[in-house]
Amino acid sequence: MQPRTRGEHASAGSLLAWGRDRLRASPAIDHWHSAIAREDAEDLLALALGVAVEELERDGTVTPRVERRFRESVERRARGEPVALIRGSVDFAGLRLRVRPGVFVPRGSTELLAQQAVAALRRRRSPLLVDVACGAAPVACAVAAALPAAEVWGVDIDPAAVRLARANARLHHLANLHLRVSDLLSALPSRLRGEVAAFTLHPPYVGREEIRGLPREIRRYEPRHTLTDGSADGLDLVRALLGEAPGWLRRGGSVLIEVAPYLSRSVQSLMRRGGFEVGVAADPGGLTRVIRGRFG
Ligand SMILES: C[S@@+](CC[C@H](N)C(=O)[O-])C[C@H]1O[C@@H](n2cnc3c(N)ncnc32)[C@H](O)[C@@H]1O
Repeated sequence: MQPRTRGEHASAGSLLAWGRDRLRASPAIDHWHSAIAREDAEDLLALALGVAVEELERDGTVTPRVERRFRESVERRARGEPVALIRGSVDFAGLRLRVRPGVFVPRGSTELLAQQAVAALRRRRSPLLVDVACGAAPVACAVAAALPAAEVWGVDIDPAAVRLARANARLHHLANLHLRVSDLLSALPSRLRGEVAAFTLHPPYVGREEIRGLPREIRRYEPRHTLTDGSADGLDLVRALLGEAPGWLRRGGSVLIEVAPYLSRSVQSLMRRGGFEVGVAADPGGLTRVIRGRFG
């Protein structure tokens, strides 16, 4: 940054360049594409200014208070803390959702799962969705908001996740969303048996030996039980749901599962073996991320 005389305010452009260089040099960040440092610096300056990132004016100047806030958040990010946790929220399917340390941070890629669930339920009379392993409840909230007539359930084994999910449901006044602490489906009310139109699942699908190979910032900031179910191939929770789901689904109901593209074929064959009719949905890059299994 250029030296400044006393009282002179920093320009947004020079702060962004400083932040980008600081983040680019950080070994604690997963630089999985070349623009990460620049994008994160922009997000953090927008956060410090309290504006949307599209509203950033590089030619403008910022007050010393904003500059201090920005520099502090860049230092947190440089130590590996994800931008979403620094901000305390993510935007998902048009909803601002709270996030907190200890609960899996919803990813933009999961919007496809929510879209597929809405499409599966839209044509149904009395649509009923159960979002298994709901975490902060991005999918459950998105579906409950898009389809106010739907009855939506979210379950997660982690009480901290369910507390956060409830806060998100309250934030968006989603009276049609019900949340329970539950190991898989164990705490679902038995009146839902035979009534469920769709299950969604974004499971902890990383194989137990593969955890070590994940970027450090993910291993450090996402709890282990949100990343792996402890099985060798990461698909035990998927197997368990596919085994239990037929007892809960109504005729023609579906199970929609999001996994990394490299696991798509394994999930498809598990579904076929379980008697499901299989379809897939790809992300904008053409990679299969959601596998749909229709039962009965
Ligand atoms: C990858 S995160 C997905 C969270 C959320 N669906 C999302 O997309 O942001 C996996 C979630 O599975 C939950 N989980 C792990 N084992 C579970 C089980 N046996 N029953 C219910 N939830 C479980 C974890 O607590 C975690 O919230």
